[in-house]
Amino acid sequence: MTILGIETSCDETAVAVLKVNPPLYEASEGHLGQIEVLSNIVSSQVKLHAEFGGVVPNLAAREHVKNISHVFETALKKASKTGNWKLETGNFPIDLIAVTHGPGLGPALLVGIAFAKTIAMTHNKPLIGVDHMRGHVYSNWLKPIGEIPNSKFQIPNKFPAMNLIVSGGHTELVLMSDYEKFELVGETMDDAVGEAFDKVARLLDLGYPGGPAISKIAENGDPNRFPLPRPMLHSKDFNFSFSGLKTAVLYLLRDLKEKGVEINDQTKADIASSFQESAVDVLVQKTIHSAREYGVSTIMLSGGVSANTLLRNKLKIATEKEGLVFFCPPLVYTGDNAVMIALAGYFAHKKTGAVDPDAPVGTSWQTIEMQPNLGF
Ligand code: KG4
Ligand code: ZN
Repeated sequence: MTILGIETSCDETAVAVLKVNPPLYEASEGHLGQIEVLSNIVSSQVKLHAEFGGVVPNLAAREHVKNISHVFETALKKASKTGNWKLETGNFPIDLIAVTHGPGLGPALLVGIAFAKTIAMTHNKPLIGVDHMRGHVYSNWLKPIGEIPNSKFQIPNKFPAMNLIVSGGHTELVLMSDYEKFELVGETMDDAVGEAFDKVARLLDLGYPGGPAISKIAENGDPNRFPLPRPMLHSKDFNFSFSGLKTAVLYLLRDLKEKGVEINDQTKADIASSFQESAVDVLVQKTIHSAREYGVSTIMLSGGVSANTLLRNKLKIATEKEGLVFFCPPLVYTGDNAVMIALAGYFAHKKTGAVDPDAPVGTSWQTIEMQPNLGF
């Protein structure tokens, strides 16, 4: 099955082609290495939004409109071995189109959905709307272009699994009891952890997006110079809160300035390092607690913040200490991309056999609508 993925929920215009050969879904022993990425095109608008310190929804939509046809054409061309899959000729053997229908920014989502509907209608292809967050989860099954997993141990195949999904808009613990069965067990009560990285980066004048900038300068920082709180670490539930941690950094900076301490590169590195340490500590400990509570065999990490080296390393060590298996996506799939959307489309399609997972079998692309607040 060859699937076209389309993603425009935030500030990346992404189109990808993915080939999945059954019996992947059946998860039978030794038959899991059947996912092949044919193309993965991502056009990032990050520089455009950097000027505003965050993503501006209408600007994002305008850029998606400008870029999507070119990104699509490039993805088709890359995917075809001969380079001759083309929109104009209708020559592209795609079996299913998967588009992100939520969660995300309304105006941005609409562009991808309208584009996907147009292709589906004019070329008579089935279309499925998929959940962006499920896409992040499935990024754990992906390998970079040209690589195909050659052993069942290289991709997740044991359930139940606990997913820590960390992005700019979400921080969620999601129990996965099978390929298509999800249950939200915890989430942030206020800011998402990626948002906290972005806000702290702004306080330290590091620009947008803040996550990569914080983790970079934190490499030279002392995580113990400025002890910061670890919010909700001991709460009985599996929820998070990161806005207090960001405010703690704000007060720390104010106090240091009042004391006449120079906010030089070393001080910034120490603050970044302390902040990162606190955030990662809470994420890791809560994930492990939830894994124990639900008796899972696997822990998976995903979302934009899963690019963070400290988080990847600490969660891996903690997971293995519990005797559990750890997965995180290759760096190329931690941020928003359309390969993960294509794979989510594959699983949703397998589950229902319907064109739209939320609609009765037999309904068509007309029923797909954007769902900016879609949740698990
Ligand atoms: O999943 P994603 O690409 O977009 C959303 O769906 O939100 O996540 C973007 C978030 C941003 O907040 C960005 O600062 C954060 O991921 N991020 C990081 C790192 N790389 C990206 N946060 C911490 N460390 C990183 N290395
Ligand atoms: Zn995302």
